[in-house]
Amino acid sequence: MEIVDQITTVFQKNFGQPPPHMARAPGRVNLLGEHVDYNDGFVLPAAIERATYIAFSPATSQHTTLVAADFNERAIFSPRTIPTKTQTDSTPLPEWAHYPAGVMWALLEEDLFVPAINAVYASNVPRGSGLSSSASVEMAFIIAWQTLGGWALPLMQRALLGQKAENQYVGVNSGIMDQFASACGIENKLLLLDCRSLDWQTIPWPEHVAIVIADTAVRRKLTSGEYNKRRAACEEAVRLLKQDLPNIRALRDVNVEDFNHLSKKLPDIVSKRARHVVEEIERSKQAPALLEAEDIQNFGRLMNECHISLRDLYEVSCPELDTMVNIAQAIEGCYGARLTGAGFGGCTVNLVEYQHVNTFARALATRYESETGYHPEIYISRPSDGAALLW
Ligand code: GLA
Repeated sequence: MEIVDQITTVFQKNFGQPPPHMARAPGRVNLLGEHVDYNDGFVLPAAIERATYIAFSPATSQHTTLVAADFNERAIFSPRTIPTKTQTDSTPLPEWAHYPAGVMWALLEEDLFVPAINAVYASNVPRGSGLSSSASVEMAFIIAWQTLGGWALPLMQRALLGQKAENQYVGVNSGIMDQFASACGIENKLLLLDCRSLDWQTIPWPEHVAIVIADTAVRRKLTSGEYNKRRAACEEAVRLLKQDLPNIRALRDVNVEDFNHLSKKLPDIVSKRARHVVEEIERSKQAPALLEAEDIQNFGRLMNECHISLRDLYEVSCPELDTMVNIAQAIEGCYGARLTGAGFGGCTVNLVEYQHVNTFARALATRYESETGYHPEIYISRPSDGAALLW
């Protein structure tokens, strides 16, 4: 595989030997349950074929040396420099190194043995595209450190530590979905996670349906600020709804009927945000039975409804995502299309009957490019395995 060969070469060049170990951790695509993980809701993601790969070996010094092959940059740090986000020469850690350094920090907080490593990593999960490239980096490093540290964490704990690194070290207030999917993915299975209990199960993916991921090629800046604002609005909704529903802990505990009665008591924006969450949780509750019955038509309808809700109520779409979705929904063989991930640019996810998948992909790319001027990337994907050591 190209990327494995590439980092093997870079590793050899930097560290003078072929890599004794290689790990892979996938990105993810989410089919339903968007912006509900931090509201204790249900999500339906799958790990994808695109992944972060890391070649690594134990280091002979106390210093961890990382080479980010995608940026052609190197960072050197140790447990001593972790709290100040600096390198061993006291210069600031480059931004990309905050993710691996954050993982080291989270593992040290657990009192785990985190040996110094030499590593090279690269990813074919496009950054900022809503496919969780950062979670895949976090899970790849957890595999590297656990391999050389001589301990093994349960899958969900790996996910939780990756999330902790991202929330508390990198400073992005994300939920658990991305790390969960990267850690727990299973080939040809959709994952269903209850974000409150963290119980999860798998749902077989129907053979005749392709997951098509379409990258708008648009990236928005400052998305973490907007993301955090959405979270704050949800918390505000819970605080206000508690006056009438004192037992609720999260929007997960509010049903659509109660919400309809009480929503006028909420400020306009808070009400829109909360309505998306309450209705999206309802949609994601309907999904398992539909998938069980292989009713992809109705599952696709829920995805279409989800997009409208993300666009009009949660307001995390953008003109290019809307264009991509509108074009897709009108092409033969498409069951459903919507933006995936946090939004504000990035990718859409489309369910397409296999027999139409190639014509679908071509038509989508051509029409999108002619309407927007952006050149999209289209990936035909299937659910893949989660993070693991390759050798
Ligand atoms: C980002 C976050 C996830 C989740 C999604 C929206 O990917 O990292 O935790 O909140 O946005 O569903």
